Amino acid sequence: MKITTGLFLSSILASWVLSIVGEEQVTEKFPCYFPAIYNFGDSNSDTGGISAAFYPVISPCGETFFHRPVGRGCDGRLMIDLVANHLGLPFLSPYLDSVGANFSHGANFATGGSTIRRQNESVFLNGVSPFPLDIQVLQYTQFKKRTSWHYKQDNKGSERTVLPRPEDFSKALYTFDIGQNDLAVGFRTMSNKRLKAEIPDIINQFAKAVRVRRIFSSRSVQTRGKVILDTQHRPHWLLASDHTRSSKKPGKFDHHGCVKAQNDMAKQFNRLLKHKVNKLREKLPLAALTYVDLYTAKYKLIGNANKQGFLDKGKICCGYHEGKVHVWCGNKAKVNGTKIYAGSCEDPSLYISWDGVHYTEAANHWVVKHIINGSFSDPQVPITHACYRH
Ligand SMILES: *[C@@H]1O[C@H](CO)[C@@H](O)[C@H](O)[C@H]1NC(C)=O
Ligand SMILES: *[C@@H]1O[C@H](CO)[C@@H](O)[C@H](O)[C@H]1NC(C)=O
Ligand SMILES: *[C@@H]1O[C@H](CO)[C@@H](O)[C@H](O)[C@H]1NC(C)=O
Ligand SMILES: *[C@@H]1O[C@H](CO)[C@@H](O)[C@H](O)[C@H]1NC(C)=O
Repeated sequence: MKITTGLFLSSILASWVLSIVGEEQVTEKFPCYFPAIYNFGDSNSDTGGISAAFYPVISPCGETFFHRPVGRGCDGRLMIDLVANHLGLPFLSPYLDSVGANFSHGANFATGGSTIRRQNESVFLNGVSPFPLDIQVLQYTQFKKRTSWHYKQDNKGSERTVLPRPEDFSKALYTFDIGQNDLAVGFRTMSNKRLKAEIPDIINQFAKAVRVRRIFSSRSVQTRGKVILDTQHRPHWLLASDHTRSSKKPGKFDHHGCVKAQNDMAKQFNRLLKHKVNKLREKLPLAALTYVDLYTAKYKLIGNANKQGFLDKGKICCGYHEGKVHVWCGNKAKVNGTKIYAGSCEDPSLYISWDGVHYTEAANHWVVKHIINGSFSDPQVPITHACYRH
């Protein structure tokens, strides 16, 4: 009995598709068995990929939980870490990491700055990752192939203890948390009107990467498959520079202080993604796909910051932001002739925003707590039951 599960996490949207083979209907009383997680995404779920490939993430990142920088743009754990723990699995090793990686329970293909579409930009120019979604999926395909090869050699050597069992691929949970940077690049390089017109293509490329590379194709999901889809788009309320630049323009912000035009774009993206996930369910009758609406979850958190035990929503824990001067978290700079270090706040657990772009562990925790029971999912099933197709 095999189950293929895909979990796509996007900050604004999430969907689940579950597929069942044959007539057999699975009783939903039993939690799914997920031996592994395969994650695809950007910095919101990068557990060390970009650090392994390029520059290491620097201190004070990691200070809250790991007590050292561990490749995450956060003071502690990311949502994907908390979801893995919730399912009884260890933290995911980045696929690109050549030191101490252990893939026996899955692998993480996410890298900070990743997009769905291939961009004509570079990590050196704009921080855009050279590993867009289609490349991440290719890496996955290669990973799977090579793992199977090692097993076929009946290799009793060391490789096996750091690789998943080939039969686990079809039972794994696949999560996708990507798309935010496609919009970010769009806001930087094109008009809102043009970007809006590009969204269908971005969504199509997302679906293509998922389908064509055969993660959830009917061939790889022969038996039973479950997929959770979740794409990530944060409410764009944290861009301090954006606030200053446009504070004179009335109507730019909504009642929570979020940048309205950007959030409208994110909502449009999510609408189309949700629609596409529905279509994918028809095309992938053997997969279980879940769409998780991270946007609404995060917006709810931001809108009720105080009530949920956080300081004012606009406060940033790490970095230096005074007037027009912005020094990124962990960096040093000279301001008015004085050397400053853009360190972190005293108590990150009171902040929603870690560095102005990424969330704190406390905020990630809040979001995960609110999404794992399925209340922001379509269909509304707990993540532990995402393998069942509804
Ligand atoms: C990148 O450039 C090529 C060739 O000019 C163009 O066809 C493509 O649409 C561009 N991609 C993006 C995401 O802008
Ligand atoms: C990798 O992780 C698995 C499961 O946690 C463990 O059994 C195995 O010993 C680990 N391999 C190495 C080389 O640490
Ligand atoms: C730098 O000095 C100017 C002039 O005294 C002052 O207006 C500004 O606020 C200072 N900037 C910072 C970041 O302290
Ligand atoms: C899901 O969990 C959250 C956080 O614990 C809770 O507020 C919410 O009521 C739960 N929803 C359902 C449908 O159980």
